[in-house]
Amino acid sequence: MATIMNSQLCVQLFVAISMFSLCNAAVTKLWVTYNTETSIFEVSDQQATDYVAVASFVNTVNQTGWAKLDVTTQAGPKRKYNDSVQAYAAGFVEGHITKSLMTMHWANTGAWVCPEPLTSQCIQIKKFLESNLKWVLENIKTFSTTSPFWHHVRLFLEQTAGLQDGFAGMKGQLNLNIDVMSV
Ligand SMILES: *[C@@H]1O[C@H](CO)[C@@H](O)[C@H](O)[C@H]1NC(C)=O
Ligand SMILES: *[C@@H]1O[C@H](CO)[C@@H](O)[C@H](O)[C@H]1NC(C)=O
Repeated sequence: MATIMNSQLCVQLFVAISMFSLCNAAVTKLWVTYNTETSIFEVSDQQATDYVAVASFVNTVNQTGWAKLDVTTQAGPKRKYNDSVQAYAAGFVEGHITKSLMTMHWANTGAWVCPEPLTSQCIQIKKFLESNLKWVLENIKTFSTTSPFWHHVRLFLEQTAGLQDGFAGMKGQLNLNIDVMSV
C-alpha cells in the first residue's frame, strides 16, 4: 500500500514538475505568408491573417529531452494555396524555427560521417543519392498530376526543400532542388 501511494505521489510530482517547466518555457510563434505576385514566402513573428502556415515551438529539450513543434497550414476545401505551397511553407517555417536544434542534431549524428574532402565511399553514397533523386524527380514530372502517390512524393520533397531553405536562411521560393549532401 505504502509503495503504491509513493509511486502515485511520484507520478503526480513528475506531472507537476513537467507542467511547471512547460509553463516556464518560451513559446516561439511564426507565420508564413506567400506573396502571389512575387511567388516569395516570408516568415514573420507578426500575426498574419492571410497566412499559409503557422508554427509554434517550445524548446523544452533541457527539461524533458524533447522540444515541441506544431505546424498548421490552411488546408481544406476553401484553401487559398495549393498543396505544394502549403508543404513548402510547412518545411520553411520548421527550418527557421528549429535551426539551432537541427544544427546540434547534425553535429551529433551526421557531420562526422562524410566531411570534406569526401572519401571514395562518401562519393559513392553521394552519387547513389543523386541518381536516386534524379529518378524520383523524373517520376514526379511524369506522374504527379495523375497519381496520388507521386503527388505525395512531390509534396514530401517540396516540404524538404522548404526545410532546407528555411534552415539556410535562403529566400523562400517553391522548388525541388534538394542538395543531398548539404551541410
Ligand atoms: C539548455 O542548456 C544549455 C546549457 O546550460 C544552454 O546553453 C542552453 O541555452 C539551454 N537551452 C534552452 C533552450 O534553454
Ligand atoms: C501551386 O501554386 C503555385 C503558386 O501559385 C504554383 O507555382 C504551382 O505550380 C502550383 N503547383 C501545382 C502542382 O499546381
